[in-house]
Amino acid sequence: MQKVVIEGPVSLSGEIDISGSKNASLPIIISTVLAKGSCLIGNIPNLRDTRFLVSILKDLGCRVDFQKNVFAVHSSVISKKSADYEYVRQMRASIVLLGPVIARYKKFKIALPGGCSIGTRGIDLHLKALKLMGVKISIRNGYVQAERKFSKLKAIKHKFSKISVGATQNILMAATLAKGKSILKNCAIEPEVIDLIKFLNNCGAQIKINKRTISINGVEDLNLHNHEVIPDRVEAGSYILATMASKGKLILNNFKPDDLTNPLELYKSMGLKIKKLSNSSYQFSCQNLKSINKISTKEFPGYPTDLQAQVIATLLKTGKRSKVEENIFENRFIHIPELRRFGADLKIKEKTVEINKVSELYGAEVMATDIRASFSLIIGAIISKGTTTINRIYHLDRGYEDFDLKLKKCGVNIKRKK
Ligand code: UD1
Repeated sequence: MQKVVIEGPVSLSGEIDISGSKNASLPIIISTVLAKGSCLIGNIPNLRDTRFLVSILKDLGCRVDFQKNVFAVHSSVISKKSADYEYVRQMRASIVLLGPVIARYKKFKIALPGGCSIGTRGIDLHLKALKLMGVKISIRNGYVQAERKFSKLKAIKHKFSKISVGATQNILMAATLAKGKSILKNCAIEPEVIDLIKFLNNCGAQIKINKRTISINGVEDLNLHNHEVIPDRVEAGSYILATMASKGKLILNNFKPDDLTNPLELYKSMGLKIKKLSNSSYQFSCQNLKSINKISTKEFPGYPTDLQAQVIATLLKTGKRSKVEENIFENRFIHIPELRRFGADLKIKEKTVEINKVSELYGAEVMATDIRASFSLIIGAIISKGTTTINRIYHLDRGYEDFDLKLKKCGVNIKRKK
């Protein structure tokens, strides 16, 4: 398994082009199975997860292609009605295929996505809404077997019992081809959901959004349309935090500040300085990093859970005690034992981590555990004295395009090893 070796400490300095959003790309790629025709989707990051999703669609019979950050659909017709365990177990987001596929085809089966290192992450919200839409669902031999009872899905008026990004995407996609007008309440309104809606509306869907309510007028069919995916706000936030932790100066291109309003306000109170260079280029610097009393993760527009591990790593060397509370996932602190290997003083109390000041951190051998947790180890490595080896970097390759090349360009001594 590949690893990276980083020599610290180092200040991040230079310029990085932010890639397209992984979490927007995945559902948009999936949604192409809803529509007829052909299209090109640009700004897709070349990541393990996006390549993998393209191979799932190819396995299902779609004629698709992925080259140089462009995903091309020649035909979205599915000939194989089963998404197999071998594929699905590697990427939880594949469950989002179920809604759009069953909207267009009568039967489909998909392997249960299974557990995950950051919590149980059920799919009950997805299945409950699909059942209400007229899908017969049974779980057999580790598969969700779905069969549409009527010639079309039924429109529903439904309030999700919990806010879920994946369930919102799944059900809103299914509703685009349903009979009648669906009204979904308590929806996720993350920028990645909004980008999906923009794409679907350009393909002929009739979707409106008002606060957390999404209404969808079902249409007869959709026609594919070209699209450019939004920049990755989590990748951008991760590099901004690395800049703050290392007292660096960084220019980010292809950056969209509106998608990161809440984190940027918090980071400014921690000492971040932002200079606008153009509509999509911003300079970030931080000479005096301050601690913060408490950060709590919350659904958008709140502080994202996907930037929780990285902000903990950023706070490792600051003055007073800081606290970070995780409210989205029940077990998203697996990076804490790894960060302690650098010498960090971290205490977990239920869903809160308390960060205490240490005067020095030292490089260590650590292990990447999930996509975002892994970036906290990069931050740990660049603020620690000496050599850090990060094992199992396939997690980083799942979510951060060319992360080693981008860091190298900003002065980090980083080497990828087999
Ligand atoms: C998406 C993102 C992930 C991000 C997360 C929360 C993608 C590919 N992934 O994941 O990076 O961390 O949103 O912003 O876009 N839940 C249930 N039952 C369900 C569905 C979810 O209980 O049927 C729970 C989950 O266990 C979790 C919470 O709801 O505690 C939120 O999860 P959800 O928003 O669904 O996350 P994902 O869509 O999987």
